[in-house]
Amino acid sequence: MTQRMTDQLVLDDVSVRYGDVVAVDGVAASAEPGEITAVTGHSGAGKTSLLWAIGGLLDDGRSSGSIALGDMAIGGEVSSRDAGAVLIPQGSALAEVLTARDNIAIPLVAAGMSGAEATALADRTLASVGLDEHAGHLAEELSGGQRQRVAVARGLALSSLRLESGSLLLLADEPTSELDHDTRERVVALLQDIARRGGIVLLATHDPEVAEVAAAHWHLEDGRLTATRECQAVSRILPM
Ligand SMILES: Nc1ncnc2c1ncn2[C@@H]1O[C@H](COP(=O)(O)OP(=O)(O)OP(=O)(O)O)[C@@H](O)[C@H]1O
Ligand SMILES: [Mg+2]
Repeated sequence: MTQRMTDQLVLDDVSVRYGDVVAVDGVAASAEPGEITAVTGHSGAGKTSLLWAIGGLLDDGRSSGSIALGDMAIGGEVSSRDAGAVLIPQGSALAEVLTARDNIAIPLVAAGMSGAEATALADRTLASVGLDEHAGHLAEELSGGQRQRVAVARGLALSSLRLESGSLLLLADEPTSELDHDTRERVVALLQDIARRGGIVLLATHDPEVAEVAAAHWHLEDGRLTATRECQAVSRILPM
C-alpha cells in the first residue's frame, strides 16, 4: 500500500448518478489538510452521495469525474484506502449484537492493530465522547445519541490509526444530528483536533452552528455546488 501524508483534496467535475437521478452534478472544489470543510445543503442535496464518491464507496459506474490528493488521482495510482478515507456514516451503522467497544475494536484489528491495542484505543475514544461506562453495552441497548457517539468514536479511532501511518480523509456524515448541545460541542472539538493533526475533515451537517466552526464551506443545491468559501463567517452569508 502506498503511504502518503495528507495533501490537498481536489475535485473536478465530480458527478453521482443513480439511474436517471443526478445526485451530484459536476462538483469542482478543494479542501485543505488541517481544516474542517463543512458540506451543507437541504435534505437530498447530495451531501452523502458526494462523501461516498470521495470515499470510493459507490457501486461501479455511479460516480464520475476526477478526485485527487494533490496531483495524485484517487482511483488511479492512489486508492481511497491509500488516501486514508474513513467514513462516519449517517445513521451510525453499528453491529447491533456487538458491544460498543467491539464495534470500534474489530475494524481497528481489520486495519492491522493488535487486539490489545485496539481494545485500549476503543476504550479511550469511547471515553473521549463520554461513553466510558457504556463500552461493554450492546449497540442495541444504546440510545440514538449514544449510538451516534459510538460511530463517531469508531471514526476517530480509525482516524488516529490512519494519521499514524499517513494520509487521512475523514468523511463525517451528519455526526452530530442526534446530540445535545454539550455533546455536540465535544464531538466538534474532537473533529477539530483530528484536522489539526493534519487530516482533511469533510463534515456534512444541517446545523449552522456546527458549520460555523469550519474553516471552509461547500454548499450544495440539488447536487450542484453553489458556493464555496474559505472563511469563518460563511454561514452568515450562505443560505443554510
Ligand atoms: N441508492 C440510491 N438510489 C437512488 N437514488 C438515491 C440513492 N441514494 C440517494 N439517492 C437520491 O440522490 C439524491 C441525493 O441524496 P443524498 O443522500 O446524497 O442527499 P443528502 O444531501 O445526504 O440528504 P440528507 O440531508 O437527507 O442526508 C436524493 O434525491 C436521493 O433520493
Ligand atoms: Mg445524507
